[in-house]
Order: sequence, then structure tokens, then C-alpha cells
Amino acid sequence: MKMLVTGAAGFIGSNFVFYMQEEHPDYDIVVLDALTYCGNLETLKPALKKKNFRFVKGDIADRDVVFPLFREEKFDVVVNFAAESHVDRSIEDPGIFLKTNILGTQVLMDAAREYQVSRFHQVGTDEVYGDLPLDRPDLFFTEDMPITASSPYSASKASADLLALAYHRTYGLPVTISRCSNNYGPYQFPEKLIPLMIARALDDKDLPVYGTGENVRDWLYVKDHCRAIDRILQDGEVGQVYNIGGHNERTNLQVVKTILHQLGKPESLITFVGDRKGHDLRYAIDPTKIHDQLGWLPTTAFDDGIRQTIDWYLENKAWWERIISGEYQQYYKEMYGNR
Ligand code: NAD
Ligand code: TYD
Repeated sequence: MKMLVTGAAGFIGSNFVFYMQEEHPDYDIVVLDALTYCGNLETLKPALKKKNFRFVKGDIADRDVVFPLFREEKFDVVVNFAAESHVDRSIEDPGIFLKTNILGTQVLMDAAREYQVSRFHQVGTDEVYGDLPLDRPDLFFTEDMPITASSPYSASKASADLLALAYHRTYGLPVTISRCSNNYGPYQFPEKLIPLMIARALDDKDLPVYGTGENVRDWLYVKDHCRAIDRILQDGEVGQVYNIGGHNERTNLQVVKTILHQLGKPESLITFVGDRKGHDLRYAIDPTKIHDQLGWLPTTAFDDGIRQTIDWYLENKAWWERIISGEYQQYYKEMYGNR
């Protein structure tokens, strides 16, 4: 089995590679990653030591990179994690989101057609369903809900999903799609809520909570997401979409307070700042389909997962401190300076 994993120098992709190397040590894994601001080759150090692993630096939207790689490696399976993934950045500058997330996916699927891969898995997001109201806890995202993306990020991911389904119907490309809720765990870039708040709390800096902090996200430990994708690759049906989530809804304020309590830091660090434009109110996944059809259930409860995640950030300070000391500072000023 030879697998291409794109975007695996980032958060979920790197965790997926570690998961697959442990579960399927016989698989040959090739990673294609452009090493953008959030791609960190250092993260993949343990994977690089394995002999059936190869890293290639390159852009998924670059046909001159992608086609020769497919010709040379003859992949059986492609799992596409590569993306611009941060909503706030998409609001500031949508262009790169359209290029990577839509056109990049197209280039990969064109190569997958040409070189006849047996499965193309598109890693999608629940954000393509828009949001749910805060006062309707009975409502959840199901796979057949209409696509109503709110941000340029989610619109670009929705476009990629639609294109993938169109490639399945039109060309018979063996596509599967997963749409997961918010992930947390080791190696998440410290611009996303949980690692940002851990890093800032440790430095006794203010914690910027958007709006009222009442927005709800449905949190899933990253390893549970990786296991779900593995299940879809094994037994998922082509042409199908699978929602992934574990009924772990928390308001942003609850998440931030949990982090502060665990680190022994005061709640006075919480600072309410201007709201995100178009801020989605609530995400909540109905995972019935993947549970019933593929037997997947999450195994990590939020209280355990968040403790493990905080411990990981405490034990791996060097990893995120290097990120924070560099370019990230400038980005932080641009993003929060006028709030
Ligand atoms: P991330 O931002 O941590 O990593 C993205 C990776 O893609 C980086 O290594 C980056 O270098 C690489 N990349 C970016 N542009 C590229 C390009 N043009 N060519 C090649 N590589 C490129 O993202 P993540 O949080 O790990 O998310 C991975 C995927 O999972 C994304 O598709 C995202 O939409 C999806 N997803 C994320 C979450 C979440 O909570 N983080 C939830 C559901 C779905
Ligand atoms: P984020 O981690 O960016 O994920 P997403 O927008 O894809 O859900 O944000 C999670 C939630 O936390 C979201 O409601 C926005 C909020 N948030 C803050 O309140 N402050 C912050 O500094 C960040 C980065 C996010």
C-alpha cells in the first residue's frame, strides 16, 4: 500500500502520519507539503527516521510538482489534508484559500484520475454547514444538510467538497469525504484557540476571547479524527460524505476557563475583544452515520484530552516557543492590533 498524505507537516496531517505508521507499519507513506507558515518539518522528525517514509516539499496546486510525483510513486491512496486552515486569516486575505483549498484539490484529483488511484480522500470540515442557533440544542449537522458556508475559509472547503463529489459523479473518481468538527491535541499551530490560550496563559498574557465567548464548538481529540479517517479508507463507500464528531460541545469561555484552571492561572487574564466578522455561533456534529456504518466512536473524553494536550504543550515548549518568537509575532499584531 502506497499512500500520499498532503499537508502532513501541519497539525492533523502529522498526527495522522504517526497514527498510520503505528497502525500500518507496512504502508509506504509519502508526504507532500509546501511548508507554509504553519508547516513545520521538525514535527515530522520521528517519521523521517522510518525507511518507508518520504517527504517532498511542494505545492499541491503546482501541476509540475504533482504530476511527476504521481507518475513516479504510483500511489494507491491519497489523503488530502493540505489547506489554508485559519478562519481569521481567510477574512484578511481570501485569495490563497481559494488557490490552495480549491485549485490545489483540483490538481490533486486530476493527477489521481490520470494515475488511477484507488481512493482519493478529501479531509473536509463541519464549517461547510454554516452554523446552528445557540437556542436550539436539539439541532445537529447531518451529512444531507445544505452547504451554507460563512467564511472565505469554509466557502473554499465547501467548494473543494463539491468539486470532489463532481469528480466522482462525472469521472468516476473513487472519492470519500470526511467533515470533522474542531480538533485539538499535540502539534496544533498556536494561532488556533486552544494552543493560543495555553501559550499566552503560561506567559501571563491576556487571553483574547472574541465577542461574548458564548460561541460553541464541538471538540474532538485529534487521534480520534485520525482513526475515523483510517476507518473510512478501509470500509467507507466511495461517493459518500462522513461527519466526524463526538458530542463534545463547549462554549469558548468554558474552554478558556478549563485551560486557566488546569494551569493554575487567574480568570482575570480573560479579555473580551471585538468579535470575528461573520462569527459562526454553534457547531455540533451528528456522527450517527459513521457510527452505524463503520463502527467508529470517539475514545478520548474532553476532560482527558484537554489534560493530555496541556501536558504536551508544557513538555514541548521548544516546539511552540520557536513559532511564537518568529514571524508569528508580526501576525499577532496585525490580527489583534485594532481590536
Ligand atoms: P494546518 O494549518 O495545521 O496544516 C496545514 C498544512 O498544509 C501545513 O503543513 C501547510 O504547510 C500545508 N499546506 C498549506 N498550503 C499548501 C499547499 N498549497 N501545498 C502543500 N501543502 C500546503 O491545518 P490542520 O488544522 O492540520 O488541518 C488539516 C486539514 O483538516 C485541513 O484541510 C482543514 O481544513 C481540515 N480540518 C481541520 C480541523 C481543525 O480543527 N484543525 C477540523 C476539521 C477539518
Ligand atoms: P479557531 O480555533 O480559530 O477555530 P474555528 O474558527 O475554525 O472554529 O476558533 C475557535 C473558536 O474560538 C471560534 O469561535 C473563535 C474563537 N477564538 C477566540 O475567541 N479568540 C481567539 O483568539 C481565537 C483564535 C479564536
